[in-house]
Amino acid sequence: MALAKFVDALPLPSVIQPVEHRNGIPYFEVTMKQVNQPLHRDLPPTTVWGYNGTYPGPTFETRRDHPILVKWINELPFEHLLPVDRSIEGAEPNQPSVRTVVHLHGGRVRPENDGFPEAWFTKDFKKRGPKFLHEVYYYPNCQRPAPLWYHDHALGITRLNVYAGLAGLYFIRDEHEESLNLPSGKFEIPLVIQDRSFYPNGELFYPSQPDPLPPVSPFPNPSIVPEFFGDTILVNGKVWPYLEVEPRKYRFRIYNGSNARFYQLQLSSGQTFVQIGSEGGLFEKPVYVNEIILAPAERADVIVDFSKHKGQKIILTNSANAPFPDGDPPTEDTSQVMQFHVKKHLSHKDKSDVPDILSCFERLTPTQNTPIRQNTLNEETDKFGRLLLLLNHMGWSELPITETPVNGTIEVWELYNQTVDTHPIHLHLVQFQVLNRQEFTVDQSGNFILVGPEIPPDENERGWKDTVRANPNQVTRIIARFGPFTGIYPWHCHILEHEDHDMMRPYEVLQNPNFNPCIPIPGVCPDDSFTQCCHEDNEHCGCKAHHDHDESSSHDESSSHHHDESSSHDESGPYYHQS
Ligand code: C2O
Ligand code: CU
Ligand code: CU
Repeated sequence: MALAKFVDALPLPSVIQPVEHRNGIPYFEVTMKQVNQPLHRDLPPTTVWGYNGTYPGPTFETRRDHPILVKWINELPFEHLLPVDRSIEGAEPNQPSVRTVVHLHGGRVRPENDGFPEAWFTKDFKKRGPKFLHEVYYYPNCQRPAPLWYHDHALGITRLNVYAGLAGLYFIRDEHEESLNLPSGKFEIPLVIQDRSFYPNGELFYPSQPDPLPPVSPFPNPSIVPEFFGDTILVNGKVWPYLEVEPRKYRFRIYNGSNARFYQLQLSSGQTFVQIGSEGGLFEKPVYVNEIILAPAERADVIVDFSKHKGQKIILTNSANAPFPDGDPPTEDTSQVMQFHVKKHLSHKDKSDVPDILSCFERLTPTQNTPIRQNTLNEETDKFGRLLLLLNHMGWSELPITETPVNGTIEVWELYNQTVDTHPIHLHLVQFQVLNRQEFTVDQSGNFILVGPEIPPDENERGWKDTVRANPNQVTRIIARFGPFTGIYPWHCHILEHEDHDMMRPYEVLQNPNFNPCIPIPGVCPDDSFTQCCHEDNEHCGCKAHHDHDESSSHDESSSHHHDESSSHDESGPYYHQS
């Protein structure tokens, strides 16, 4: 459907306030609801699922080292809004149609609060997934200021829950960032880019089967599709919105919140973006770029200066092929994202700055002893002839857990992409750095042969990241320090159709008796230090699971955690009692 562009103003998600404090910790409640929301001037209101009844959900504004508590409540209907494929793992016919669990993407969070795919729950917590542990989640915010987001992560239906609207923003801030004098207040604006398709009556369209259908019968109906691409672009929940801006500098926090679509963003005025950060927070120095590529879940923190563009209408454009990088070019419609309308006058002088040094940054470099973990991205077909994407040739629930970094240690993960598309690979818990990429081929006995030089990451890929583009026929090398928490976390492709089928694996951070996260590591910037997570004071946490674990271990150091590592998903003993 062709909807008029730039006729609706860009909405800004509201900032959520706590309902109370529990032992001094702000406590929030967020209720998932089905609502009707106007997404475009000419479209009847659309049925969406929203956190607190809004799509996108309300924004969390948090402070570094100031923890919060959130109770996520499901008041959604019993039947899904979108076609649920019952042949997908986790969504079998005996499972509830509507299951939810919330993941804080980019957050340094204990496993029991991370939003494990099988920790789902249904309306009023009536049914709970096998890994469900508690109702109230604890977010320590013990990491550098960063643009995080929260979204649904229920096994086998993540693509549908997020598409229905279950996503929202979560910022961590601190005094240092504020002292930089970046554009702030109404000059700092989040832009969550998502693609959707609509029925003429305004309802969300999500395909119920692939097109063309594989020649296999019986074929599941509904069935997952290899990737979803919508014909309409939304920003902050509005179709092709416009934003009136003053002729001055703005800070945009750009998120790709789409299921599968990549964006290659430019400004029609030909201006550069001054990129100051990525998923994990601020760069050391600003980077000047004409174009920003964002795969699903990637974020860019950018400054755009409109001061020389008074009176102009500037379009944020997209040139990314779908699938990326070698699929179809965007249409006239999908090559436009939103419009900035630069007003003639300033309300007051622009006193903001983009300093040359933005933050302390520790570059991780492998040594001879750094473990290198070789991982593969593979394409297979399932029993219905459908594309089945895998990591290391394994699906989500195959045992054993093969990726097992030790707490406090640095590892290099190599991502050998043997498929034809780029996959945005995301690790929970950690922020990592991109070391390089390199072309490879496979010889007759299946060994990887590296060809050509190591290709350094793009200039705007040199900050902390939690999602990286693994390009076809390349190995992408990333490096991370794992920790400070131990336990099982997912890593997966963030193309949500891939994540659901079945490009997601658990990894486990193993306990390390020789590592005390509360002792500073030389060279680590204070903003990134694990030690800040030691301030977590469980006595004041107010969340049940912590107290439970506390009571069993907090006053008895000798009893702590030498138990079975294979079951350590529910291991959550406060590591700072280890010595
Ligand atoms: Cu944003 Cu595991 O995902
Ligand atoms: Cu995540
Ligand atoms: Cu993928």
